[in-house]
Amino acid sequence: MEKIDLRLLKTRAEKEIEKSRSLKELDGIFKKYLGKKGEITQLFKSLKKLPEEKRAKIGREVNELKNFLKIRFDQKVEEIKEKIKRETEEKEWIDITLPGKKPVLGHLHPLTLVKRKIEEIFQVMGFKIVEGPEIETEWYNFDALNIPKEHPARDFWDTLYLKNSKLLLRTHTSPVQIRFMEKNQPPLRIIVPGRVFRHEATDASHEINFYQLEGLMVGKDISAANFRAIIEEFFKRFFQKNIKIRLRPSYFPFTEPSFEVDISCLVCQGKGCPACAHSGWVEMMGAGMVHPNVFKNSGLNPKFWQGFAFGLGLDRLVMMKYKISDIRLFYSGDLRFLNQF
Ligand code: DAH
Repeated sequence: MEKIDLRLLKTRAEKEIEKSRSLKELDGIFKKYLGKKGEITQLFKSLKKLPEEKRAKIGREVNELKNFLKIRFDQKVEEIKEKIKRETEEKEWIDITLPGKKPVLGHLHPLTLVKRKIEEIFQVMGFKIVEGPEIETEWYNFDALNIPKEHPARDFWDTLYLKNSKLLLRTHTSPVQIRFMEKNQPPLRIIVPGRVFRHEATDASHEINFYQLEGLMVGKDISAANFRAIIEEFFKRFFQKNIKIRLRPSYFPFTEPSFEVDISCLVCQGKGCPACAHSGWVEMMGAGMVHPNVFKNSGLNPKFWQGFAFGLGLDRLVMMKYKISDIRLFYSGDLRFLNQF
């Protein structure tokens, strides 16, 4: 017992504690000195072998050493824990120079994409883009377009009237012809894209709201031949290939003569298939030479002016371009559909 130098033991233990790098290692050192069979515990046990007078003095010294080392152990435990914490924080450090996560950008609806493409083509050909109100008066939607009140032609348009008023949801973009000619003198070339409404039972090819694109060109000698040339050029640029068109006689109250415009079917190249009811042709728009009454109702003299007008179903054109079989998909808000464009 006397041979043991407590000071040497202290420095040795202190050094080991100081050098330890992990809690596990530290635990081993603790056991080595202060565990059940630890060196210091052994010292306590051997105290009783000492003579009385030495026992008290050495006992106190061993006790002090024990307390001292306990404190050192506690300090070291804190130190190691602190170090571990710092290291994990460093690992979790955010690199602000990394490129950020890109926010998902929205994109244009297929109807908008096609509308913009059509606008671009007509603008290059000198047409101006004009808009009109979606809520209309009976005058602009019907009467001014040569469709008087009791005339059966009104039945062509299943109309949504607004309650307790003379207003209605426009059934076509044609009223903008009148609105524009009231305020602008020919020569003029306009297109009018816009939303229209019908009181329809919906199915794969009918919706209660859809889009049209109206066209109007008026001058001193604008003819059906000009119409044919412009519309053929339009389809060629739109579909980026030669498209055959044909004009069929038809009837609209606001044009005389009136015609329906067909294009050769894009699905079967005109050979005949289910998409074109095996005719090889697909109906694309109504058109005609502006009726004299339409000029009169706009304040223009039909003796001086003549021109053509046309009305194109935008939805139909988009369906043709992208081979979409159901018009209701446009208005369903279904992302599985929309994200394809
Ligand atoms: N407004 C007609 C409709 O909705 C389409 C139309 C036909 C417009 C002939 C025209 C036209 O400008 O000349 O059914």
